[in-house]
Amino acid sequence: MNAQITSNHLIQVSNVHKSFLMGKEAVQALRGVSLNVKSGEVVCLMGPSGSGKTTLLNIIGGLEEPSRGHVIVNGENVIAMSEDKLSEMRLSQMGFVFQSYNLLANFTARENVEVPMALAGIKRRERKQRVERLLIDVGLADRAQHYPSELSGGQQQRVAIARALANDPPILIGDEITGDLDSETGFEVMDIVVRLNREKGTTIIFVTHDPRMAKFADRLIQLRDGKIIEDNGQS
Ligand SMILES: Nc1ncnc2c1ncn2[C@@H]1O[C@H](COP(=O)(O)OP(=O)(O)OP(=O)(O)O)[C@@H](O)[C@H]1O
Ligand SMILES: [Mg+2]
Repeated sequence: MNAQITSNHLIQVSNVHKSFLMGKEAVQALRGVSLNVKSGEVVCLMGPSGSGKTTLLNIIGGLEEPSRGHVIVNGENVIAMSEDKLSEMRLSQMGFVFQSYNLLANFTARENVEVPMALAGIKRRERKQRVERLLIDVGLADRAQHYPSELSGGQQQRVAIARALANDPPILIGDEITGDLDSETGFEVMDIVVRLNREKGTTIIFVTHDPRMAKFADRLIQLRDGKIIEDNGQS
């Protein structure tokens, strides 16, 4: 039996390197990052702009391929996966929240949350109930019919969170989810995230520049120049 599959780590990142070619120059975004995350952990990634935070999240989610190293999520090797398998893995295992929300402009809040459920083949009746529940959970039941342009930044971010949770993923990945928000709204968004962890045991990895938001995490990891320079919970 494969030792990796018997590990109690939900996410295993081993010696990941990533370089991007910019013209003739190689930019080394990650330089040997290793990281294990247990199921149910809330992990905060911090570090200066350009230190590799987004690149690391993208590699964990299979949105980007590392130049070197391994990533295993829930016992499966992400790097060896076909595109189809990757999409399926993301739909069932991970919710992504991007700083720029990435909502579909021509879809209402309700429809944005419903899209990943439709992609996962969930029947209309169940979709309707789940969308309603999720919008209540993020405090937007009364905004279901609004388009993103009719919502504030914080409201759009909450729709993005509801959408990321559409298929009840065991992992939630958030890149500066409170970055554009005023601090009160930022705290509200973090409360939703932490409640999710407490109530459902969702594993959460989030990036922030704000030390006040970092306090919501069990574990803090500092990246600098593509390397982990501090990790107060490496196991
Ligand atoms: N697609 C790309 N092509 C070329 N270089 C890239 C690409 N994506 C990232 N980089 C470079 O890799 C490094 C790490 O970028 P990354 O986006 O991971 O940083 P970050 O820590 O998320 O920064 P920020 O806090 O500003 O979001 C940077 O030097 C960046 O310029
Ligand atoms: Mg980034």
